[in-house]
Order: sequence, then structure tokens, then C-alpha cells
Amino acid sequence: MSQPIPLDPESIPTQADAETRAMPPSGAEKPATDGARPFRILMVCLGNICRSPTAQCVMEQQVAEAGLRGQIQVDSAGTGDYHIGDAPDHRSQEHALKRGYDISGQRARQLADADFAEFDLILVMDEANERDVLARCPRQHRDKVRRLAVFGSQPQVLEVPDPYFGGADGFEHVLDLVEDACAGVLARLQQGADSKMPPAGGMEG
Ligand code: 4NP
Repeated sequence: MSQPIPLDPESIPTQADAETRAMPPSGAEKPATDGARPFRILMVCLGNICRSPTAQCVMEQQVAEAGLRGQIQVDSAGTGDYHIGDAPDHRSQEHALKRGYDISGQRARQLADADFAEFDLILVMDEANERDVLARCPRQHRDKVRRLAVFGSQPQVLEVPDPYFGGADGFEHVLDLVEDACAGVLARLQQGADSKMPPAGGMEG
């Protein structure tokens, strides 16, 4: 694809959309996608050692497979500062690698104020992340913040749950949800300005 990725805010599901399947409010700010630089996605969780590094790698792989490397860039960050500089949790690394995702080279960083202007789409994993991110987010950038899970194929799934204190199933569940939702994000971006929110009652095919 040689054209810049367009992003119509009306093509991006909000939390309320996922719950009500309603059209988002009109008049939302259009993120900058003038073609001068890649479209930038930031994946955000709490520690930046489990969910968001996984989401970053899955999204990067799907972007590469779609031939869009260079047009879409992906990064990740945590709302907390507990693990700054750490490699991803060994369980996340192991489960990701079983599906072909090598996240070993990532290092955790904390969300920075500059990220709100730097990124075009800020995808959080759960309600707490959303609350923490929005609490810091300048008003003009709030429309960039979405839950990753609402891009997935299951309308009732609104979060990618924290696997940190659980067992192996939780890490597999993260991968299942993230793979599904990243495909939805990519589809929305590829549909671009021509896409509209799905009608009430569910996602269209
Ligand atoms: P993440 O998981 O937010 O998916 O990276 C966690 C990692 C660490 C902690 C909690 C969640 N922690 O409490 O240290």
C-alpha cells in the first residue's frame, strides 16, 4: 500500500460503542495522518511486561504480514513504574514464542506525557489502564484512547485481563484476545475513512 493509512474516528470503536453498539459522537478530532510519517499505535497495560509487549509484537507481525511495515509503527508502555527497563515476564515470553512471537528484546518503559501527541492510537488493555491513561491525557488527545479488546470479534469482550497473578491459561487467553483484536485494528485501519461503525446488534463481517 503506497497511500497513507487514513483513520476516521468514526471507524474506531469506543468503549461506549462496544457496550451499546451505537455510533460514536460526531465532531471528534481527526488524528494526524497526513502521510508525512507512519501511523503510530501505542499498546498500554500496567507493567509493560505481559500484555502490552505481547500486543506490540502481535500487531507488528500482522502489520508486516499485511505489507504495511513502514506505514504503521507499534510501541508499548506501562502506566506503572514497577518494571522500567525489565524484559517481558518469562511466562509471556514463553507463551508468545510458542506461537512464533519473540518478545525477548523488548524492555519496559512507563507511559510518558509526550506519548499523547506522538501516537495516533493508544490502545489500553483494561478499565484500570483506561482510567489511568485518561487521567493524564490532554483533552485534545482523548479520542485516541481506546480499549484494544473492542476491536475483537466478540462483542462481550471488553478487556484483555491481567495474567500476572494467574496461571498458564491466562497467558494463552491474552494471546487469543490480542491476536483477534489486532486483526480488528488492522482491518479498521485498512478500511480507513470509508468504514463506519457497525450497526446496533453486532460487528459486521
Ligand atoms: P501487565 O501485567 O500489566 O500485563 O504487564 C502486570 C505486570 C506486573 C504487575 C501487574 C501486572 N505487577 O503488579 O508487578
